[in-house]
Amino acid sequence: MTKQKPVIVVNFKAYKETIGDNALHLAKACEKVSVETGVDIRIAVPATDLHEISESISIPVYSEHVDEYPLGKHTGAILPEMIKSAGAHGTILNHSEHKVPLKKLEETIQRSKALGLTLVVCAENVDEEREILRFKYKPEFIAIEPPELIGGDISVSTAHPEVITGGVKELKDGVKLLVGAGIKTKADVETALRLGADGVLIASGIDLAKDPVKALKDIIPE
Ligand code: G3P
Repeated sequence: MTKQKPVIVVNFKAYKETIGDNALHLAKACEKVSVETGVDIRIAVPATDLHEISESISIPVYSEHVDEYPLGKHTGAILPEMIKSAGAHGTILNHSEHKVPLKKLEETIQRSKALGLTLVVCAENVDEEREILRFKYKPEFIAIEPPELIGGDISVSTAHPEVITGGVKELKDGVKLLVGAGIKTKADVETALRLGADGVLIASGIDLAKDPVKALKDIIPE
């Protein structure tokens, strides 16, 4: 059954278009589309921009990563407590561009959930999803992204629909599924929803768009 309204998580990553003043500009574009369309759009922004963006907009703002260390003697770490105090509502974890060993991942999920943070935990495939869903503490979202398609123009929906259907079959305990990698069009989003995903995790299609408001509106199913 097709779920009509996707959850859209825009991952800003570390493009020149998505840091500093540009990050705030893009965040406001995402907020505008969410308000105008009623679609649940969330953004994951660089840690250095979290505080300013969280203060400036009303949609959920996530970090792109957190470290598992406890508070204390850890130079350069980004801890769950830090992103929370900067105003974040949640975080992405285990992105294929920032992998976390399974044991640490479980600890980080537990620590983050204890602080009330929402978790979008990435998996490169259905096997990894299955491992994550064995944890005692579950994330709100699993996001499956075939790494080889990330940043390209061929989407997971086109190249690997079986990853979406396979990912949906594994879901349990109320965890929702996002899919990502190469998502650029409304058809990509529609296929993901038709196959049972709850939404998409997207980056370059929005981050690098000349007109992010238009790019976002263009991928939202009617
Ligand atoms: O986190 C989202 C991401 O990895 C997908 O990137 O550029 O293929 O939409 P992109």
